[in-house]
Amino acid sequence: MQKTAPIGIFDSGIGGLTVAHAIKNELPNEQLIYFGDTAHLPYGDKSTATIQAYAVKIADFFLQQKCKVIVIACNSASAAANELLKEYVASRAKIINVIEPMVNYIATTQTNKTVGVIGTKQTINSGIYPQSILAQNTHVKVKALATPLLVPMIEEGFLHNRIAHDVIDKYLGNTALQGIDSLVLGCTHYPLIKDELAGYYNHPIQVLDSSIITATFLKQFLAANNLLATAEQPAHHRFFVSDLTDSFKHSAKLFFGEPVVLEMHRLWE
Ligand code: DGL
Repeated sequence: MQKTAPIGIFDSGIGGLTVAHAIKNELPNEQLIYFGDTAHLPYGDKSTATIQAYAVKIADFFLQQKCKVIVIACNSASAAANELLKEYVASRAKIINVIEPMVNYIATTQTNKTVGVIGTKQTINSGIYPQSILAQNTHVKVKALATPLLVPMIEEGFLHNRIAHDVIDKYLGNTALQGIDSLVLGCTHYPLIKDELAGYYNHPIQVLDSSIITATFLKQFLAANNLLATAEQPAHHRFFVSDLTDSFKHSAKLFFGEPVVLEMHRLWE
């Protein structure tokens, strides 16, 4: 594996650009190839088998591009397809996902605390957060709630209005999340409403953003595996999507925080 080889990052759609942007900031020497499976969005309501089938196709695309690492930048795909992708890709590339770095972070920093996790149905119903956290630290209490309305709400640009506040109040006020000390944003889209989520509480609460934690984890991982691109190379990031609409173009800028040129690439023909 070449140190200068690109890093492949994928998500069900555009939301994973929050992770891609954190990686770009943390690792400015790396070449990034992003793939948003917008043709199959959302993954959060799909079955595990369906998400696995999509993930394998996307991994093939990254392997053709000779990526050294594939980052599963989607919580739902991380919950459904991480183990399968590791087996499928084997020694051809390394696999990183957005859940493992967060779990490690919680296990080391949240002892004797109650941690809330919100995410899609796929992520929450998989039970992966409580199971993996408790496997590392039994002194963390984990409370989880599926919050499926948040993704379409954010995609519609409902971030700071009354409807958004009502939906957030309804979810965070659920008894399932009572008494939490910190809140995990277990979905790519949620960093966009980080302040609104934190603002629900009238006491300070730690909001844990997987995009930043994953980028830090990836940097350490590359260094430990002697895969860091040390020399400066002209950044030539590419952003592919399996379906391209004006609305995806608009959201891309919102999620990446700077202009992005999306290229159409169909994997399913
Ligand atoms: N990217 C997904 C996640 O992080 C959210 C959007 C979807 O459901 O596809 O879980």
